Amino acid sequence: MCGIVGAAARHNVAPMLLEGLQRLEYRGYDSCGLAAIDATGSIRRLRTVKRVADLRAQAAGLEAFTGICHTRWATHGAPATHNAHPIVSREVVALVHNGIIENHEELRAELRAAGYTFDSQTDTEVIAHLVQSLYQGDLFAAVRLARQRLRGAYAIAVVHAREPGVVVGARAGSPLVLGEGTDGHYIASDALALAGNVERVAYLEEGDVVRIAPESTEVVDALGRPAAREWHAVAAYSGATELGPYRHYMQKEIFEQPRAVSDTLESIKVIGSHLFGDTLEQLAGARRVLILACGTSHYASAVARHWIESLARIPVDVEVASEYRTRDSIPDADTLVVGVSQSGETADTLAALRHARTLGMARQLAICNVEGSAMMRECGLRFATRAGVEIGVASTKAFTTQLVGLFLLALTLAALRGRLTEAELQQHLHDLRHLPAALQAALATEPQIISWAEAFTRKEHALFLGRGMHFPIAQEGALKLKEISYIHAEAYPAGELKHGPLALVTDAMPVVVVAPNDALLDKLKSNLQEVRARGGELYVLTDAGTRIDSSEGVHVIRLPEHYGLLSPIAHVVPLQLLAYHTAVARGTDVDKPRNLAKSVTVE
Ligand code: M6R
Repeated sequence: MCGIVGAAARHNVAPMLLEGLQRLEYRGYDSCGLAAIDATGSIRRLRTVKRVADLRAQAAGLEAFTGICHTRWATHGAPATHNAHPIVSREVVALVHNGIIENHEELRAELRAAGYTFDSQTDTEVIAHLVQSLYQGDLFAAVRLARQRLRGAYAIAVVHAREPGVVVGARAGSPLVLGEGTDGHYIASDALALAGNVERVAYLEEGDVVRIAPESTEVVDALGRPAAREWHAVAAYSGATELGPYRHYMQKEIFEQPRAVSDTLESIKVIGSHLFGDTLEQLAGARRVLILACGTSHYASAVARHWIESLARIPVDVEVASEYRTRDSIPDADTLVVGVSQSGETADTLAALRHARTLGMARQLAICNVEGSAMMRECGLRFATRAGVEIGVASTKAFTTQLVGLFLLALTLAALRGRLTEAELQQHLHDLRHLPAALQAALATEPQIISWAEAFTRKEHALFLGRGMHFPIAQEGALKLKEISYIHAEAYPAGELKHGPLALVTDAMPVVVVAPNDALLDKLKSNLQEVRARGGELYVLTDAGTRIDSSEGVHVIRLPEHYGLLSPIAHVVPLQLLAYHTAVARGTDVDKPRNLAKSVTVE
C-alpha cells in the first residue's frame, strides 16, 4: 500500500506531484506529504494527516523542479504527522516508502549506535538514516548500498539536498514505474499517477534501482548491472478518474458495470485457449485447478469453482492466498494455478503464486484488471478484465468482470475437454452477451434498495445467507456492507443457519437472503421459515418465478429474469447498492473507508 510519486523536470513539478498523489489516494490515506528541493537547494517538507486537498493548500505557491511525495497506509507507527512521509535524515535526505522493512529493529540499533536519532515510529526512518550514513556524494550509489542491507518488500523514492535535480528510486516487492515526459522524468507506484505528464512508461523489475534527472534515467538491476527496461507508450490521459455526475467513485463504478462487462466480453471471438494467451497444451493438460486470491477476488473465485467443476468436470480448490502460502500443502504439477486480482499487486496473492511455482506448479494464469501489474508479468497465461480504473476501495466492477473472465475460463476448459456441444457453447455465449442488459435490470432495483438501506442504517449487525454459487455472493454482500458502512455483517451458507448462527436471530437482526430461482430454492425457502419463526426480518433478493412475495417481516426485491449460471453476476449488484446507500446514509467516507486501502501490497 502507500503511494509514491517522484519528479525531476525542467518545470515546476509541485502541481504534477499533487495531482499524481491525489490519483494514488486509493493506495492509502492515513496521511500524506511532499518534499521538494527549493531554489536555495534546501529540502522543504510538508505533511498532513488530512487528505491531499489539505496538502495542496499547504503547498500553495511552492515552486520546485525536483520532488517526492507520498500517501500513507500506516503499518509501523500511528497515523500521525510525525510518522507521515517524507521522512528526513539530518535535513539533507528526504525519503518516501511503500512496504515493510523486516530488519528495521536491527538496523535501528546500528544507526542509533552511529549517532542517528529517531523522531518517528516508522521503519522508513531507518532507510532514510541508512542512506545518509552511506552517502559519499552520490545518492544513486548510496541507495544501491542501502538496498543490500534492507530485507522486506518495499519501494522507495529519495532526494538529497546536495543533488538538486536527482531522484533515486528502488523497488523490491512493491511496484514502481518509471515515466518519461517531454521535459522530465518521473517515478510512481502506479502509471495512473503519471498519466498526462509522460509519453511512455517502463515497469521496474524486482531489485532495480533507478536514478532520474530531467535529461536522463539510469537503471541498475538486483545485481548492480546496468539494465534497460522496456518502454510502453502511454495513452492520452482519459480522465477516467473524474467523478462525472456521481457522488462517489463507488457509485460511478457500480453503474459502470454493464459497460465494464461488455468491454471485457469484447475479447471473445472464439472460445479457446488463445483467450488466455496460451498454447492449447497448457490448459488442456490441467488435471486440477487451484485459484488463489484475497477479499472480493476470493469470492469471485469461489463462484468460479462451481462453474468449472460443473461445466469442465475438473476439481477446483479455492484458497485465501495468505493461508495457502503458509500451509504445508501437497503440490500437483498438473494443476492450473489461477491468481485472481483487481490490482495484480496484492502481496499475499503474488507470494502465494510464487510459492506455488517453487512447489513445481508453473502453469499459472493471472486474471487481473491491470495490464502491466506484477501478476500479469509473472504468470505465463493472462486474461485482462476490462473494468477500467477502479478507484473506490470497495471493489465492484472489478468483481463482476473477474466473474466474466472466470466464466470464460470454465467454458474454455469445458470446450477443451469435449464437455460442451456446440449448441451448449453457443447458448452460454448468448447468455454472456445478455449480461450487460441483466446488469442494467439489476441497477434498476436502486429505488427499492434505497428503502432497504433506510432500515439498515439503524442496525449494527446483519446476516447474509445464500446457497451454492450464491453463497460467495452473500459473502461479498456482507463484505461490502461491513467495509463501507461499518455494520458488522456475516455470511453463512443458508443450510448452516441452524447449526449456530440462528441463535443470533431476533427482530433486531436483518437477514439478507440471495434466493434465485435455482435448484436449491426449495431448501432455501425452508431456511427463510426458520428465520421468520424467530421473528427475524427478511430481506430477500430473488428473481423471476420464485413465488416469494413481500409480507409481514419479509421484504422482497425481484430481478426480472433468472440468469442461470450467470445469476451470481446479476445478484451481486443490488447488494453493492445496499452497502453503498447504507454507508451514504450513515455518513461514512464511502470511497476511502477507515483503515483500508485499495491496493494491499504488504503481507
Ligand atoms: O487487488 P486485489 O483484487 O488482489 O485485492 C484483493 C482484496 O484486497 C480486495 O478485493 C478487497 O477485499 C476489497 N477492498 C474488497 O472490496
